[in-house]
Formats: sequence, structure tokens, C-alpha cells
Amino acid sequence: MKNYISVNDIDNLSEWVNNARSLKTDPFAHKNLGQGKTICLLFFNNSLRTRLSTQKAAMNLGMEVMVMNFGSEGWQLEFDDGAVMDQGKSEHIKEAAKVVSQFCDIVAIRAFASLTDKEKDEAEVVLNGFVKHASIPVVNMESSVGHPLQALADAITLAEHNMKAKPKVVLSWAPHPKALPHAVANSFVEMMHLQDADFVITHPEGYELDPQITKNVQVEYDQEKACENADFIYVKNWSSYSDYGKVLNQDSNWMMTQEKLGSAKFMHCLPVRRNVVVEDTVLDNNQSLVIEQANNRTFAAQVVLKKILDS
Ligand code: CP
Repeated sequence: MKNYISVNDIDNLSEWVNNARSLKTDPFAHKNLGQGKTICLLFFNNSLRTRLSTQKAAMNLGMEVMVMNFGSEGWQLEFDDGAVMDQGKSEHIKEAAKVVSQFCDIVAIRAFASLTDKEKDEAEVVLNGFVKHASIPVVNMESSVGHPLQALADAITLAEHNMKAKPKVVLSWAPHPKALPHAVANSFVEMMHLQDADFVITHPEGYELDPQITKNVQVEYDQEKACENADFIYVKNWSSYSDYGKVLNQDSNWMMTQEKLGSAKFMHCLPVRRNVVVEDTVLDNNQSLVIEQANNRTFAAQVVLKKILDS
């Protein structure tokens, strides 16, 4: 495998999940695979889980890790071909990606959506800039439109806790004071397309995700109805897609409560705002899988890095 850019790069989800579960039982089974190799993690945005889990995954495989908070420490990058660089941007992606490629064997990029320019966000300017100009494999650590490492960790978590041939899985929007990207929700939906499940998305009107991604998925605007008899409820906020990047409402009635959760397992990618997105009771009881989801980020990343190193 050359790059891991989206969930669509997963050729066989159940095989990848099984590989991850096997790595979880013996994380150092391939500790010499990455010997003498270096991964460079470039962050244009903040992170806790992605940074530490990807670093841990690489270390488990014997790799060296270099981390750079590019957004605050690097030169401001220009991505436009033919740009006259007489303003604030000091370095072009053409040089930056080639230079990074000389220092490491894999580069991983985190670059969120701007939520102000849909066309630019969907073009994945930063991630695709590295894909185009780097000479080494590129891993997506959350881009404008996708978070495939999170989705793979979510698939591992579902597999570990699922007791049914066809579980009911609900993706529920929840309120949030800030405009958040669609990446986690998009990749979760894409991953659910690869699963045998009764999958429902619930959100207020106006929060429809990209219809190309949600094609053939049931949408239920009544959250309580959607959550009835659910086995797993994945909660996430996202801003409007049609009224791009806007917060249309912050209706606290959409916060996930123990009553709505019922006997379902609770999932969230973290970080999560307590008593805004979800009430304390849900996070603090044993139906919550959020800590295990975060733990599974290591083994999701380890499967991806192993596949790249093996190829
Ligand atoms: N879920 C997730 O990607 O967490 P971080 O933003 O902390 O990396």
C-alpha cells in the first residue's frame, strides 16, 4: 500500500480489523519491521490521540519518529501553482514536500478543513499537496473531509463489542458551541458502508452530510426514534454542509443522555465537551467505549504503517 488517505484505501475491512486485534494482543510482534525507518508527523492542527497513538504505533514497529507542529513552527506554505509569493507565504509545497521526503520514509499529515471555502476544503489542498509532491507514502491523520485512522479504530471497537450478526448503529449529531468539520462523521459513514449493520444517521434538518457520502443511508430527523433499540450510538457534532461551515442551531435537546442511550454502547472520537455533547452519566458509566476507541487508535495506525512497510 502506497498511501492511506481515506477509508476507501481499506481493501478488506474485516481482515484489517482482525490484523489490528492480533497486533493488540502482541504489539511488538513486528518490532524489527521498521528498524532504520523514520516517520515524520506534521501537524497543522492540534491533537492528543492522533499524535500519541501514531507515534506509539510507529515505535511498536521499531520506527524512529519525528514530530513537527507545522502550523505554529513551520514556514507558511503556498499551494497554488504559479503563485507570485510576495505576500506572507514563505515556502512552496513543491520544495517542502520534497525536502520532508529526504528526511523520512513515511509522512503523516493533519490538516483540518477551513470551513470557509468548501471547494478548497474538498480539494484537500494540504494533504493532496503532499501526495503530489512527496516521494514517500502519505498517511492522513485527519484532513478536511476524512479521518480514516479514527474510522478504522471505530471499526475495531465495534468488532470487539458487537454481539449480533447485524447490529443497529446510530450516528447522532449533537450540539457544540463551535463550528466543527465533517471529517469524523464522513469517515464513519464510509466505514459503515463496509459493515453489515442497520445504520441510521440522525441530525436536525440542515445538518445533512455530503449526499455523495451518505448515499443509501437512512436519515431520521427524530433523534429519540432513531436511537430506539440501538446497539451502538456514535455521537458527533458537525457544522452544516449545505450552508457550509455554519452553526445553524445549538439545541441542547440533542445532547446525548442516558435515557436516549438506553442499553446501547456509547461512542465518540474525543475530545468531547461534557454536558454539551453528552451528559456526564453517559461518559462515566461502563456503556461508554470512548477510552477503548482512543486505545484502538494505536492498533489502527499500526495496521496502516505495517501495510505500508510491508509493501
Ligand atoms: N479523535 C482524535 O483525532 O483526537 P485528537 O484530535 O486528539 O487527535
